[in-house]
Amino acid sequence: MGKPPFLSIKFAVFLSLSLAGAATTTTTTLPFFPKPKPQKRSSTVSIPKATAKDLLALLGSPQQASSVNAEEAQKLKSCFKFLVPFSLPTRPSTGITADPFRRSLRSVKLGGEGEKEREYNNELIWWPPAPVKELARLAVDSGGDPGPIHNALDPTVIQVPDVEGSKDDKCELTRTPYGWHFISEELNSYIEFLFEMIVARGPSIGLNVSLNRFDLFHGHLFIAADSGRLGILFHAKEYPAYEKDTFPCNLGYCQMGSNVTYDDSMNLRNILWLAPLPSNSSKPWLAPGVLVVLDAHPDGIIYQDLIPEYVNLARTLYEDDFGEVVVDVNYLNVGTEEVPKYQLFIC
Ligand SMILES: *[C@@H]1O[C@H](CO)[C@@H](O)[C@H](O)[C@H]1NC(C)=O
Ligand SMILES: *[C@@H]1O[C@H](CO)[C@@H](O)[C@H](O)[C@H]1NC(C)=O
Ligand SMILES: *[C@@H]1O[C@H](CO)[C@@H](O)[C@H](O)[C@H]1NC(C)=O
Repeated sequence: MGKPPFLSIKFAVFLSLSLAGAATTTTTTLPFFPKPKPQKRSSTVSIPKATAKDLLALLGSPQQASSVNAEEAQKLKSCFKFLVPFSLPTRPSTGITADPFRRSLRSVKLGGEGEKEREYNNELIWWPPAPVKELARLAVDSGGDPGPIHNALDPTVIQVPDVEGSKDDKCELTRTPYGWHFISEELNSYIEFLFEMIVARGPSIGLNVSLNRFDLFHGHLFIAADSGRLGILFHAKEYPAYEKDTFPCNLGYCQMGSNVTYDDSMNLRNILWLAPLPSNSSKPWLAPGVLVVLDAHPDGIIYQDLIPEYVNLARTLYEDDFGEVVVDVNYLNVGTEEVPKYQLFIC
């Protein structure tokens, strides 16, 4: 499955905005022109340009992490805002996973988790239920081939219905008008759990998100280029409202009616989940799962090295930089505003 269509549309929009700007004004700098990046490299020539691969390495095994230049590592780490504490693989699993009964996934309480619940949910990120770990292993064992993951999908096609009036606006939220589920119900529930965890824990680091068609509704599931690690890059604040001073960008039909305000929390719109990293040796796991917000504030190395210049304003990290994109995961409100009903569509 190729690049999502909106990637190229966004690029075209930004490009045409820039060209139009260039044609009509010579003296004023329009706010949406990407500012020249600070020339900080002159004083710190020794730090290599950060890459998505380095970022993933720092969230991997100690051995992977040690491959990253120390100064660069420090700068990257300063941009990590963990929604679940980062944990080193000091133990393969704890009591909950060792439980002979299957771990049950519960909905995360949006009104705040109790302490016990919090621990439990942390564990679900570090050491997810078996079907998630199996998928993670499949990704590594297949050498990064998305085929086996596609094969884990139930072939039944599910039409994407109207979502919060998007059809009236001619907005298509998903890359195809239909989607699938995984055969394993537990896998489906786990992905829903991830969306809910982001909403529940985001506020603790300054990210208020809601599950709706302008804000958080999708992520891109990828297999990391070298390690074969399975991950999802979520994008919150997908369609901020057009605002002539702060966000003068026309993002097309899906932006119409948006109530997402462009503000500093845009820096926090890229959220990364990583499955535990399987090992190919006798030791089963090299690193536990991760859930982290990648802070793209303009003074940080993520903004400066990893955000493509034409989307500086939108602060978008691209899933293709992290690995081979396998599917998109969409969690859409197919109910009403009063009685929301969320449903997963894997496209
Ligand atoms: C997030 O929402 C809470 C509660 O509505 C509010 O108190 C807080 O200021 C908001 N934070 C941000 C960064 O907008
Ligand atoms: C925006 O609208 C959605 C419904 O479409 C609602 O769930 C959400 O709370 C609203 N957000 C804000 C910030 O008003
Ligand atoms: C295991 O993976 C490492 C790289 O992660 C590789 O160097 C090694 O050759 C692999 N071993 C086997 C037995 O496949």
